[in-house]
Amino acid sequence: MEHPKDFAKGLSIGIIMDGNGRWAKSRGLPRTAGHKKGAQVFQDIANYCDELGKIAYLTKANRTEQGNRSVYFYAFSTENWKRPAEEVGAIMRLFGEYLIKGFDYKNRNIRICFMGDRTALDPKLQKLMNELETDSASKTGLTVNIAVNYGGRP
Ligand code: FPP
Repeated sequence: MEHPKDFAKGLSIGIIMDGNGRWAKSRGLPRTAGHKKGAQVFQDIANYCDELGKIAYLTKANRTEQGNRSVYFYAFSTENWKRPAEEVGAIMRLFGEYLIKGFDYKNRNIRICFMGDRTALDPKLQKLMNELETDSASKTGLTVNIAVNYGGRP
């Protein structure tokens, strides 16, 4: 796909993960299958945003030139804890799985940041999140922000 030179400069998009259950229902599948599809789409979008930056700024790989490109995923809200335990468990498993294999972190110029109160999450997940943030802190390309256990109310 062709993009104008400045297309990805300062790109900042927000994505609320939604419709996973409906996607599954319309295909006669369990809701967890919809969450799995949602996680795959999350990965595709983040990788695509990374590719956009490479296309536009192939020769100028520094944060200023790339205009701090960022993508925000709103993955799991405080309200979402009210779902059946089985569904919450499946979402958390998928989250961990995609954090581990979601990107080729070592070879991609992607910085990962998490938003929301992570203290309510499984300690193993928290450790993984902290490591990803630390390991990717000096990356200069796309910033992928993932909101987990986030809420709009104080
Ligand atoms: C909303 O769809 C989706 C969620 C509440 C969970 C999304 C989280 C994951 C798929 C885990 C993986 C996340 C990442 C960032 C790797 P919905 O269930 O509200 O759909 P519906 O409106 O059709 O019921």
